[in-house]
Amino acid sequence: MPHSVLFVCLGNICRSPIAEGVFRALVEEAGLAKRFTIDSAGTGAWHEGDPPDPRSIEIAAKHGIDISAQRARQVRHEDFQNFETILAMDNENLSVLRRKAGTKPTRIQLFLNTPPMSVPDPYYGGPDGFENVYQLVRSGSEDFLKSVI
Ligand code: 4NP
Repeated sequence: MPHSVLFVCLGNICRSPIAEGVFRALVEEAGLAKRFTIDSAGTGAWHEGDPPDPRSIEIAAKHGIDISAQRARQVRHEDFQNFETILAMDNENLSVLRRKAGTKPTRIQLFLNTPPMSVPDPYYGGPDGFENVYQLVRSGSEDFLKSVI
């Protein structure tokens, strides 16, 4: 059985698309693509069907990763059955996910397990926020990959 990982933020247009893209790139570089199912979603539905925020596409591209084909979607009930691990970008999204999951056995945890623990929402800030997201997501992805292989 492959590992299945769902990255979750609020809108699924800024943070979790970058996480999906970076983690997929790491897994591919490691030759482990067949062992993982990777997706991302948002706890909110406002951006359903939208591509990632242009600032997220740009920061990922700057680091050699193309996330432009991704489309936003809201977390669905089946996600709590289908994904072994759901990784939340911050505590607000973690709480929403835990509430929605009920007693399902999915592992739901914060994506980062070292300070600052949360990947801050860059939506209303400047471009530095997106570079910060990228750096946090890269180290978080490396840590998570080491923890599961
Ligand atoms: P994300 O950022 O959760 O990292 O995708 C946001 C995107 C959109 C909104 C909030 C956060 N919004 O309120 O529309």
